[in-house]
Amino acid sequence: MIIEDHIPKVGESSIQEELLNCLTSEPKMLPSMYFYDNYGSELFEKITQLEEYYQPKIEMLLLRSTARKLKGEIKDCDLVELGSGDCSKISVLLDEIPEEIRQSIVYYPVDICKEAIERSACNLQEKYPEMAIHGITADFLEHLENIPGKRRRFFCFFGSTIGNLSEEKAFEFMENLGDIMSRDDRLLLGIDMVKDIDIIERAYNDSKGITAEFNKNILKVTNSHLGTDFDPEEFEHVAFFNENNSRIEMHLEAKKDLEIDIPFFSEKIVFKKGETIHTENSHKYTAESISRLADAAGLTMKNTFTDEKEWFSLVEMVKV
Ligand code: AVI
Repeated sequence: MIIEDHIPKVGESSIQEELLNCLTSEPKMLPSMYFYDNYGSELFEKITQLEEYYQPKIEMLLLRSTARKLKGEIKDCDLVELGSGDCSKISVLLDEIPEEIRQSIVYYPVDICKEAIERSACNLQEKYPEMAIHGITADFLEHLENIPGKRRRFFCFFGSTIGNLSEEKAFEFMENLGDIMSRDDRLLLGIDMVKDIDIIERAYNDSKGITAEFNKNILKVTNSHLGTDFDPEEFEHVAFFNENNSRIEMHLEAKKDLEIDIPFFSEKIVFKKGETIHTENSHKYTAESISRLADAAGLTMKNTFTDEKEWFSLVEMVKV
């Protein structure tokens, strides 16, 4: 098992500067990557088990049935998973393919989090000793060129993570991926689809309040970087579907006028009651909008695997 590290070390001062710029911009926002400290990752894990949060359950079922159909295409290739996290999704796919195919592939988990790669690559190696694993810690939005490409590649990008990118970033990412793909390569993309608004909004306003806790945790992460004393209880979790932009927006809304000191910068962040911090977008796609993404990348949609309600899709794309 090999693990390669391509993450540039980002100093605390540039993190502080980024957070400060975001909180003093108009409107205020915080990048959603700051949800995921240890506690945030635990909360996200809990979200994936919520009854209302339908996406992972459907994606897992689709992965199981799709793996059987795609096993011929996976044979003898480099299986590259972008944003591999805990490798739970690829495990479902690997469980469904015969050992002889696992023996023929090299699995490349690519993730920004070094600990996640180390932990999950070790677990996976124990589970599938017959399969070669080559972990890469990299930001795949910036450094796709670090992914080896000596033979046919089968790219996987699951979890509807593409939905958290702005439209501009999603197109840029797809164009970059299209540029490095060759004719025999494949992409299997997991995407959450547009559906009844109530169902989408329920998934981000769960009855146990876990998503609210997850959203508010970004303030604790901000406190730890900026030395601020945001009280998460002074903010309301707000999540709604913005139909014009086809996305769930998550915000934190100030319950009253607030002034937050930033001791490191001797500045204050001022909130009017009702003002929000925009913390996340989660875009929902249609067959047409997915096809526009594919076009931008010079790819075509070869197969779409979806559930009977068409709530979630695994889309297989190939180079035109
Ligand atoms: C990680 N990502 C695909 C999740 C989503 O649904 O956009 C993050 C999330 N935010 C709130 N709940 C889940």
